[in-house]
Amino acid sequence: MRDSSTSNDSIDAPARPATDDLDTVARVIHSRRSVRHYRPDPIPAGLLRRLTDLALQAPSSFNLQARSVVTVSDAAGLRALTAATGGQPHPQEAPVMLVFVAESAAHREGRHDIWETARANGAWSERYAAASPEDVQEFQKGLEARGLAREYAVKDAMIAASFLMIAAEAAGLATSPMNGWDEDAVKKAIGIEGRDDLHIALLMPLGLPAETRTHPGRRDRALTCFSETFGR
Ligand SMILES: Cc1cc2nc3c(=O)[nH]c(=O)nc-3n(C[C@H](O)[C@H](O)[C@H](O)COP(=O)(O)O)c2cc1C
Repeated sequence: MRDSSTSNDSIDAPARPATDDLDTVARVIHSRRSVRHYRPDPIPAGLLRRLTDLALQAPSSFNLQARSVVTVSDAAGLRALTAATGGQPHPQEAPVMLVFVAESAAHREGRHDIWETARANGAWSERYAAASPEDVQEFQKGLEARGLAREYAVKDAMIAASFLMIAAEAAGLATSPMNGWDEDAVKKAIGIEGRDDLHIALLMPLGLPAETRTHPGRRDRALTCFSETFGR
């Protein structure tokens, strides 16, 4: 099944007004660095909420939103995440750690609120909204049979994490993606010990930077961006 919920709707969408937002976004993307050391200053609750709201605006497969984010800021939680990351400095120093969780069994919950919201917004046709819950179930069962359910949910979580990194940079806050952690220990820290339907996609410190990082550079575009076929 193809995820084509909005393809027809976009045909009649009005052209967006030309803006210079691209320059702003480009500046934010270029200035973001992975920061390892943080100041302890707390993040105002309103700003944290705004950033996580923006992360949750990220696209997801079928809009199933098979991901969530847990904000950890109390001392015990940060200690548990420090241990889970083998003592890396980020969770010892940052006032907030974000844990991006991939939900590989999201489709089993039904999640009728998704279809109801899209229908109420006039975003999805009645026909699509009525048919898609069953279609999505079939698609997701196919993923499970091929052992891909976790991978698909991790994609949703990683895109949300990317949105958060860009939003945080625009707000003057630093982040870093983190891969080095023990999954069971992270799950225990956020209260999902033993849940086989939930997976840790990424950890991310959030806070004011206590260091300035230099851009480590990127490979030459000719090596990583191709036209029509890979390698050309
Ligand atoms: C999936 C992923 C996992 C990462 N894990 C870690 C990590 O565990 N610890 C760390 O200090 N940096 C981690 N990084 C940061 C990378 O080292 C960093 O993105 C890379 O060196 C490029 O630097 P930049 O982000 O400043 O452009 C990770 C980055 C990604 C994308």
